[in-house]
Amino acid sequence: MKTTINKVNDYLNQEVTIGAWLANKRSSGKIAFLQLRDGTGFIQGVVVKADVAEEVFTTAKSLTQETSVFVTGTIVEDTRSPFGFEMQVKQIEVIHEAVDFPITPKEHGTEFLMDHRHLWLRSKRQHAIMKIRNEIIRATYQFFNDNGFIKIDPPILTATSAEGTTELFHTEYFDQEAYLSQSGQLYMEAAAMAFGKVFSFGPTFRAEKSKTRRHLIEFWMMEPEMAFVDHEESLKIQENYVSYLAESVLKHCQLELNTLNRDVDKLKNIQAPFPRITYDQAVELLKEKGFDDIEWGEDFGAPHETAIAENFDKPVFITHYPAEIKAFYMKPDPERSDVVLCADLIAPEGYGEIVGGSQRIDDFELMKERYDEHKLSGDAYKWYLELRKYGSVPHSGFGLGLERTVAWFSGVEHVRETIPFPRLLNRLYP
Ligand code: 4AD
Ligand code: MG
Repeated sequence: MKTTINKVNDYLNQEVTIGAWLANKRSSGKIAFLQLRDGTGFIQGVVVKADVAEEVFTTAKSLTQETSVFVTGTIVEDTRSPFGFEMQVKQIEVIHEAVDFPITPKEHGTEFLMDHRHLWLRSKRQHAIMKIRNEIIRATYQFFNDNGFIKIDPPILTATSAEGTTELFHTEYFDQEAYLSQSGQLYMEAAAMAFGKVFSFGPTFRAEKSKTRRHLIEFWMMEPEMAFVDHEESLKIQENYVSYLAESVLKHCQLELNTLNRDVDKLKNIQAPFPRITYDQAVELLKEKGFDDIEWGEDFGAPHETAIAENFDKPVFITHYPAEIKAFYMKPDPERSDVVLCADLIAPEGYGEIVGGSQRIDDFELMKERYDEHKLSGDAYKWYLELRKYGSVPHSGFGLGLERTVAWFSGVEHVRETIPFPRLLNRLYP
């Protein structure tokens, strides 16, 4: 019977065949321990010299790292392995012999590993991180579908900028200029007026010259947009969504969190409601914490966010930022027009801003004023303004950065490990 490693518990004490690669190996004169992986998981294969034909043991001893094989043997329980099972190997058929696999069990430098990302993805650690990424994606679809949202796919080639013009990737679109999408939001607003509650999940691009543990040039974002939902209501949806993601990862990725040595108590804390402070309060807090030169009206950098997050054991919403440091579409606070109805959700442990969201301007005249201030003239933005012309309604939305969320839940330091093939300031290979 042919099966996969994640299914072996269905075959206890039975003989099965698994297609696998050799991740690692230990052997002595009498016994060989093969660490096998097949993409669905890892299992140890035990080859006992006395129990197999001579050539099987010889093959087992000569297997090189990442050689592909069909192994046949009996599945038995093994309480010492984190996985709970091992295979008593009877037969080994070599499919293809790998010669000098570059990534050996010894330590390698980050640049070397990044240059070999196409092979590094096979490691146990990368496997665990990608499984957590997959679970967050799965839980996202589940959460939004369960809550009456429908998935809408905004375009990637656009004629407009959504989040400021300095970070745009330009490209040719026949005889026009086009940009790679920085955010699907503007299109999601059109979709919300058609479908009520919508969400997107797709790649976004920022030509940002940032070289930090939180910045990618190409990253994936979840962007819900909701008609008839105000800022307050949006915050509740955000905290419920993020809590649901944490709960799903805790429930379905135990093995992976264990592989990554993640402190799961930190994840168990991620439960709605989340604390909230205003931008004004955050500035005061920073002053108390010794950031003497922070002035009202300045944006927060990574050290500021980390310092603020330290005061809380859950993610914290910072709300009501000054209008001038936020995007053109954010609705001013009706009680105080110098701040906007927005929030950034800051994760603990230095992971920084995970979600950015706001209530959107729904008034035609005010949006037109913003267009003038931001010099958003021309036909490219005409359609977005028209959304304020035909049955405009209060609406809100937010964007959750997938890779930052994966880094946070996985407990990995840098976002470069949270996407299969990261695009960084100085990296387009592999
Ligand atoms: O705060 P941002 O720029 O918000 C928007 O794009 C809005 N249009 C979203 C919306 O309201 N629909 O980005 C949202 C999130 C950030 O909080 C962060 O998690 C992630 O996207 N993000 C990045 N992740 C990795 N690398 C980058 N360069 C990122 N820039 C933003
Ligand atoms: Mg932001």
